[in-house]
Amino acid sequence: MSTRFLDLSDPARRHVLRGSAALAFTAALPRAWGADTAKHLGTLGFKPVPASTADTLQVPEGYRATVLAPWGEPVGLPGQMPAWRDDASQGAAEQAAQMGMHHDGLQFLPLGPGGQRGLLVVNHEYVDDGLLHTDGTETWTAEKVLKSQAAHGLSVIEVAQHNRRWQHVRPSPYARRVTAQTPMALHGPAAGHRLMRTAADPSGRRVLGTFNNCALSLTPWGTVLSGEENFDNYFVSQADPPDLHHQRWGIGPRSWSRWHEFDERFDATRHPHEPNRFGWIVELDPQDPSSVPIKRTALGRACHEGGWVALTRAQRAVVYATEDAAFEYLYKFVSQGRMAPGGAAANRELLDKGTLYVAQFEPGGRGRWLPMVQGQGPLTAAQGFADTAEVLIKARQASDALGATRMDRPEWVAVDATSRWVYCSLTNNRERGRPGKPGPDAANPRAENHMGHIIRWREDGDLDGLAFEWEHFVLCGDPQQGQPHWQGNVRGDPFACPDSLAFGPGQVLWTCTDMGSGSTERDSTRAFGNNAVLACDPATGRFSRFMTGPVNAEFTGVCFAPDGKTLFVSVQHPGESPRGRNQPQQPDRYSRWPDQRPGARPRSAIVAVQRDDGGVIGLA
Ligand code: FEO
Ligand code: CA
Ligand code: CA
Ligand code: CA
Repeated sequence: MSTRFLDLSDPARRHVLRGSAALAFTAALPRAWGADTAKHLGTLGFKPVPASTADTLQVPEGYRATVLAPWGEPVGLPGQMPAWRDDASQGAAEQAAQMGMHHDGLQFLPLGPGGQRGLLVVNHEYVDDGLLHTDGTETWTAEKVLKSQAAHGLSVIEVAQHNRRWQHVRPSPYARRVTAQTPMALHGPAAGHRLMRTAADPSGRRVLGTFNNCALSLTPWGTVLSGEENFDNYFVSQADPPDLHHQRWGIGPRSWSRWHEFDERFDATRHPHEPNRFGWIVELDPQDPSSVPIKRTALGRACHEGGWVALTRAQRAVVYATEDAAFEYLYKFVSQGRMAPGGAAANRELLDKGTLYVAQFEPGGRGRWLPMVQGQGPLTAAQGFADTAEVLIKARQASDALGATRMDRPEWVAVDATSRWVYCSLTNNRERGRPGKPGPDAANPRAENHMGHIIRWREDGDLDGLAFEWEHFVLCGDPQQGQPHWQGNVRGDPFACPDSLAFGPGQVLWTCTDMGSGSTERDSTRAFGNNAVLACDPATGRFSRFMTGPVNAEFTGVCFAPDGKTLFVSVQHPGESPRGRNQPQQPDRYSRWPDQRPGARPRSAIVAVQRDDGGVIGLA
């Protein structure tokens, strides 16, 4: 669908992108903070905001926020700029030229030196069909399925500062939408495998689209990695007896998307291999809107929150990959080759060859990376792993067989380039210790873990080490209240359910909370108010609440301009209904952010936060 709007043959469009701006961008990597951030290491310098339940975006005194690119705004495709309509009456084709819904992982890529201009790449994780369509789901049609598919995926937009205020640049030769219908390539060991072939794609190498994209990260060679998270919810499988492979991946008789009713490839009973083509990490080159996104199968299949690249001293790419699902796993990929100078073009195959490992945390603060290599240990043909591709496609089953550690929903990873501690947020796992479920273990120490925790580890030797030391960085909760096992050990402002993690200027660790919107989730976390962005002072380990969001919104994808003077973050699902879907008759029942007009549909958006005095975000 989106290819209709991307004229790949337009030479004028290609010419612009091969110009000097793209070269300057590559030169700006790897990311180094501006000179005036270094002297502030370890000194947070803002007045924390109080917890809030108001339907507003709250930033500290002396800061301001600019709303950019809400759902339904045209992304800026030249000649294709359908305007937002308050009643959401835009059709599927218009939606494919507009910002998708439910903005998630976000990254800023500077264009040229100075960071006054750049690209924002954002995932659109999922949709609320009650808001997406004028009459919600009262009727269900092929056009609505296409519109839902067009509101998923990713957007690339150009932004620039005018008088120190960020604006969305439209039209832009970089503007792009990637949707659930965009043609993509499968690369790596599973590409072309028997289990990847379908009636529509006998090659097993071409797939349409990506969806439920959660975290987004930057690679050192200038591309982004996007995780395909809860893809299982988009398929139905009604095989009798149940297909055990589908069952292990949570694919059953119901689908939250209802796409299968008008798009038969989402009926896994009829097309049992189609789900195998999702759950990968997708690499996209945002500088080249004619590039084909690539699913990197060497990184393994999971309900991927995302993947994060760091380099060993020998320039090997290490990708930490997380699976945000209760009792699932944490992965690490080590490339066989080394990163080459020359940006994306020089590293097109770097993530296609290497070794995947899964984490095993041991008591006493030690852990190991277990190789997921066909033929080794239990990963044999006799055990159902005929070849490397089958190990990667059935990564959950392989991790089960290896006895890896079943985690409390691993979300984001952030690597401290200085200390080499690797941080991972484990958002929560209310099921741990319940009847029939695994109990607490060393790394996931709390039964009914409502509050989540952040774990960190340091590899033996370099980042490609096969063993590590680990510790809990923080057990979340409120030390002053709640059940004893929910209280945790947070210093500073209490918080729960960490999700996004990122290092900002001054080596400050930032996190965004995702406490959910459903009433059962909120029973234990209501005292924290709305979701927040917090900063952790690296010298003291104290957390300070930096921002709070509108009602039932979550922040995600916190990232920074290279000079450290702008914080970008997605505000996702403002006004989300505790029952999961809003009613179009009363779209503003819970929130009308950001438009504020009575009856306005709440819209996910990006916000750019800056200091009034032009200083570095968060520091003194
Ligand atoms: Fe989509 Fe794991 O949050
Ligand atoms: Ca997330
Ligand atoms: Ca989450
Ligand atoms: Ca969420």
